[in-house]
Amino acid sequence: MPEKIKFFIDGKECLAERGQTIYEAAKANGVYIPILCHFEGLKPVGSCRICSVRVNGRWMASCTQPVTEGMMVENQTPEVEEYRKAIIEMLFVEGNHFCPTCEKSGNCELQALAYRYQIMVPRFPYLFPRKDVEAFPTFLLDHNRCVQCRRCVRAIETKDGRKIFAMKNRSGQVRINVDRKLAAKMSEEEAQKAMEICPVGAILKKEVGFKVPIGKRKYDFKPIGSEIEEKSEGVKNE
Ligand code: FES
Repeated sequence: MPEKIKFFIDGKECLAERGQTIYEAAKANGVYIPILCHFEGLKPVGSCRICSVRVNGRWMASCTQPVTEGMMVENQTPEVEEYRKAIIEMLFVEGNHFCPTCEKSGNCELQALAYRYQIMVPRFPYLFPRKDVEAFPTFLLDHNRCVQCRRCVRAIETKDGRKIFAMKNRSGQVRINVDRKLAAKMSEEEAQKAMEICPVGAILKKEVGFKVPIGKRKYDFKPIGSEIEEKSEGVKNE
């Protein structure tokens, strides 16, 4: 059997497979680290920094950083949690997130993170940027809610491997660009997949709305991260 790597998260002894990232190993050990740009099965890009941890005093993105022997990871310390909370607040003020009327409310990872971090009023001023909504035959792209996580860029492509979504511009002007010709050929299933891979309500499948009522959706019942933490509770109680 391959040798396991021993490391620590907030003082808890954990074991990792060689090559696992801190995020993957934490999850396998029943420790929740929040993620937003990362998605299981996609190559991590480390762009949102929600998953930041401190390792031996240095900030690192846990979704890209591999575990090494004896690593001391700070995950749920007040400093780390405050850092993540500030990032979530920035994402809210940088866009226009109209949660109460959003089709994704209750299934939205950003909204669920805001609840987990008990965000009431962001400490930063709202920017109210002017953003548009684009319509395609099977889906809508609402730039007001896009957090530039690039999940759609990495996950959605045609059968022959061509990208439908791409990043355009830089810095504050960065936005998702859609290949209109390819998007016009997207099936209902592909539009559904794009909607599901989007952590917020930026990509919405057309002609289906509120099929599951607000109040009966994924995070309406269980806070984000609870499925990982509950597993760890189960291990402790066995
Ligand atoms: Fe790790 Fe976004 S989830 S940087």
